[in-house]
Amino acid sequence: MSSLILNGHEVRDRIFADLARRVEETGRRPGLHVILVGDDPASAVYVRSKGKACEKVGFTHETHILPADISESSVLDLVARLNADDSVNGILVQIPLPAHISEEKVQRAVLSEKDVDGFHPENLGRLLAGHPRFVACTPLGVQVMLEHYGVTVAGKRMAIVGRSVIVGRPLAMLMTLKGSAANATVTICHSATSDLAGVCREADIVVAAMGVPGFMTREHVRQGAVVVDVGINRVDDPGAKKGYRIVGDVAPEALEDWASAYTPVPGGVGPMTIAMLLRNTWDAMVLQQG
Ligand code: GUN
Repeated sequence: MSSLILNGHEVRDRIFADLARRVEETGRRPGLHVILVGDDPASAVYVRSKGKACEKVGFTHETHILPADISESSVLDLVARLNADDSVNGILVQIPLPAHISEEKVQRAVLSEKDVDGFHPENLGRLLAGHPRFVACTPLGVQVMLEHYGVTVAGKRMAIVGRSVIVGRPLAMLMTLKGSAANATVTICHSATSDLAGVCREADIVVAAMGVPGFMTREHVRQGAVVVDVGINRVDDPGAKKGYRIVGDVAPEALEDWASAYTPVPGGVGPMTIAMLLRNTWDAMVLQQG
């Protein structure tokens, strides 16, 4: 049985085309500002790709690169300045932040109407309460991708491995909302789950979001299940040009000719995250300006 590949590039390109058309037709250009603290190489790559994406669709963007030893209050000052600037529609603080800066404090400081990451407690609360506004980009990307490829989640059992506030928890909330692209029966699994493999094998859809390269094997995936691999892990590879390659949280044996459909890494969920960031930024502009 060959597997259906859920191609994030393809869906992202459609979403970009739609946003570029809106910019073209209305002449409105939402502005996204990204704050990057320190020089984590993976974060620098993500931030660059966010800027390139903005250029592709015609959004304005600015990246504020701050030194790793900057004070928490200086970061909060910058957030306050961007909150007050009407040309800034979306604010994204790239995480992780250095240990001396509280991520929670900084995320709370972002005006919830500009919180295109969906990490502000008000936006998390709205999702929990069943009337979401800005939903975190990766969970939203998973939902849009599954819907695009006609993978039904309503009535299905979904196992989400990973309970982060970036992916696992908001995805569980999103998938258990009422509605045709939701209505799933969700189990959140984590490091203390007993018989993880057994729990995952009961699922129709398995979402791997714990950030451990190749952790999930055939033992965790019932044959014919759908696999969504959210992992983006760098592993050393002396044979590769950059000295590393990117792998997911799911081992290849549990994907091709085993899953009925799966998201590849790279090229699956990753591009969807950026597409949803831009969509949230458009929505933020509309929320702020009508
Ligand atoms: N770091 C890893 N993923 C994300 C994300 O979706 N948003 C932000 N702000 N930082 C991240």
